[in-house]
Amino acid sequence: MTNWTDEAAWARTRRPMRTATGLDSAAYVNDEFYLVEQQRVFGQAWVCVGIADEAVAGRMLVRQVGSKSVILTRNETGDLRGFINSCRHRGTELAEADCDVAGTIRCPYHRWGYSLDGALKATPFFDEVPRDDFDKADFGLLPVRVDTWGVLLFACLSDDTPPLLDWLGDLPDRMAGYRLDTWSTVHQASIDIQANWKLITENFQEYYHLTWVHPELAKVSRVADHYRYQGSGMYCGQTTTPVSGDERDEWLALPEAWGLDASDSVSGRFIAIFPNVILSVLPNHVWMMRLDPIAPGITRETCTMLLPTSVQDAGGATAGAGAVDGDLRDDAIAPTRRFWVDVNNEDIDIVQRGQRGLARGGVPAGPLAPRFEEPLHRFHNMLADCMTNDGLSGLQVPTGDQPGDTWGAGENPTPAAIDRVAKGA
Ligand code: FES
Ligand SMILES: [Fe+2]
Repeated sequence: MTNWTDEAAWARTRRPMRTATGLDSAAYVNDEFYLVEQQRVFGQAWVCVGIADEAVAGRMLVRQVGSKSVILTRNETGDLRGFINSCRHRGTELAEADCDVAGTIRCPYHRWGYSLDGALKATPFFDEVPRDDFDKADFGLLPVRVDTWGVLLFACLSDDTPPLLDWLGDLPDRMAGYRLDTWSTVHQASIDIQANWKLITENFQEYYHLTWVHPELAKVSRVADHYRYQGSGMYCGQTTTPVSGDERDEWLALPEAWGLDASDSVSGRFIAIFPNVILSVLPNHVWMMRLDPIAPGITRETCTMLLPTSVQDAGGATAGAGAVDGDLRDDAIAPTRRFWVDVNNEDIDIVQRGQRGLARGGVPAGPLAPRFEEPLHRFHNMLADCMTNDGLSGLQVPTGDQPGDTWGAGENPTPAAIDRVAKGA
């Protein structure tokens, strides 16, 4: 049996791009691989657990991170907190699902109560016969690291892993012009996909399949307009510059965010942050997909559409409930949402087929296309880094593309060159 924590198991992934292969089929279907992956990837990485506007004061979020259930709250001063979802008395689950919370987190079993900062405050009747050794200060909720970037919430179960900003590398700077922390949710829906989580993010990371799986999309998002968009950081990315323009244009139906620079205002940025969140950032909206593994062959995909505050203020749509007539909101976002649902259904169909082929075929890992699938190679190496290390304190965040890098079909343009393309120079 393969030992997936041993570097020797990753020899073909560690080869240079032009001789590397994809992952062994076991990585997508094998229970043992999945268990190690839950421990070494989802138990050590910064895992996306939601959208910032879900974690508002008065709400408690419940999310699975690796093998642990985690709750997230905001305390009285608005600080985000994360805890293991387990009472310090006899370990009971504190919350089953996202819920409202007043000032106190109450265990349903014997009503021990915790503050939103996790401190144990109430132990009904516990002291009627005092114990010699009991101090409430010793029994606060177990903390979990949490942090935010832009609109995204992250949690990390390991104390060894570098801070979120190190994990993200140059991405916050690269995406700063979008001011994503001001964007908010207008639509969210979850679907269970019969495929391993890696197949879904790999499919997102390559546009090799565009012509055949998305014939309509390929008309408006030309293969020739795709470039890599990868700096230093635990992410893979590509950009479409210029983003499409023809009569279909559903994803350009909403007004553009204010204040974007010349490149951002004509581009689509497609970013897969390792391990489990994929972002399509357009000048006027974001379509985000968070991937929660359920089993080797099942992934819950939560799709969220976000709009910039400037677009919402312009009256096209409004986030949240109640402020503006719901029909108006739905009318404004419907074409864009429909566009993504159609494209996503095409992707779901092909990744489920990929899963079936891997599960029932078990063929050896095949070669990756250097022109189109370098992000998969990068992603597979991040996976290998996590799988082979018990503790990520020494993590080497991947470097980014260098000016002049070539990938089969020609030079990978630098951002400045992309800008010139965008302007038609
Ligand atoms: S298990 Fe929570 S109060 Fe007893
Ligand atoms: Fe696709």
